[in-house]
Amino acid sequence: MTEQSFIPETYNQSVENGKFSWESPSNIALVKYWGKKKNQIPENPSISFTLSNCKTITSLSFSKKENKEDYSFEVLLDGEPKDDFKPKIETFFKRVEDYLPFLKDYHFKIETSNTFPHSSGIASSASGMSALALCLMSVENELNPNISQEDFIKKASFLARLGSGSASRSIEGDLVVWGTHPKIEGSSDLYGVKYPYEVHENFKNYQDTILLVDKGEKQVSSTVGHNLMHGHPFAQERFRQADKNLSNIISILKEGDLDQFIALVESEALTLHAMMMTSMPYFILMKPKTLEIINKIWEYRKATNSKVCFTLDAGANVHVLYPEKESNSVLEFIKSELVAYCQNGQYICDIIGLGANKL
Ligand code: DP6
Repeated sequence: MTEQSFIPETYNQSVENGKFSWESPSNIALVKYWGKKKNQIPENPSISFTLSNCKTITSLSFSKKENKEDYSFEVLLDGEPKDDFKPKIETFFKRVEDYLPFLKDYHFKIETSNTFPHSSGIASSASGMSALALCLMSVENELNPNISQEDFIKKASFLARLGSGSASRSIEGDLVVWGTHPKIEGSSDLYGVKYPYEVHENFKNYQDTILLVDKGEKQVSSTVGHNLMHGHPFAQERFRQADKNLSNIISILKEGDLDQFIALVESEALTLHAMMMTSMPYFILMKPKTLEIINKIWEYRKATNSKVCFTLDAGANVHVLYPEKESNSVLEFIKSELVAYCQNGQYICDIIGLGANKL
């Protein structure tokens, strides 16, 4: 499929006003997306677990307007006007306008809230942009009721990607691949697809406890971060490594090989941070407490033979990943050994989920 195939033919219905609501989850990448080309095309494919509890709930009210020259919208976070979100949404509208030609016909009221604290350092762009993309697809579905369920989902992911790359992986679950890879059938740079192959029981209901180490504002926005991969001395090798890791994860997921899973996932997390440490300018996004937690996880794993591991986003928080059958023991370990490193003792228990829901 090409970008052009997402441009709709003339709509056969008209609608004056309405309101749609969607909830959409965050996701955590196992093979990371870091580096992009023009138009939100990733430099390498990525794969993520869709989460369940960390999500954004968005309602989109729309009503026809007279003036069709410009966008007109208001944004509310937790019921309060949130003008800081406007530039990002305006950029998103500009990027998707060709694919949603009705955008200037309506005034939109976007009411949004997250189940996790806004300042927790948990990126809300994946859940937020996917929820908004889904609401806009519901509007399009009114104008063109013939769109199939499959095309609806695909276009929602396509639009979400234009808002934020990782958002393309939040529409469905429980494992989603975004980015073309020769070994993943149906994979595309344009949208996320459900991981199409066999997944071992070991990965069912996988747990993700997010330790909130540093809730401060991000030091590096993801846009700046991705840009740092342009001209980065190790970029090409990194993109090759991600391709290889995606090939390797296929048999790991099939066989349920948790030791190899741990090695791949932790290496991906540290490579992401290594890319930031070796870019120009360079950044260290981990905090001392991030490293303390990583060392504690390694000690615990050695002492108990547990299959717990960690991964990181572009920040200091740690995602602790573990199989469902270890949920009691690892949670005990987290409470007794790791919570001390969390800001105000805060952590969020999450689990792999199945994707977004219409409300
Ligand atoms: C480190 O999706 O936030 O979380 O496309 O610029 O919005 P934009 O970037 P974004 O980047 C996420 C990067 C990451 C890794 C990942 O989720 O794959």
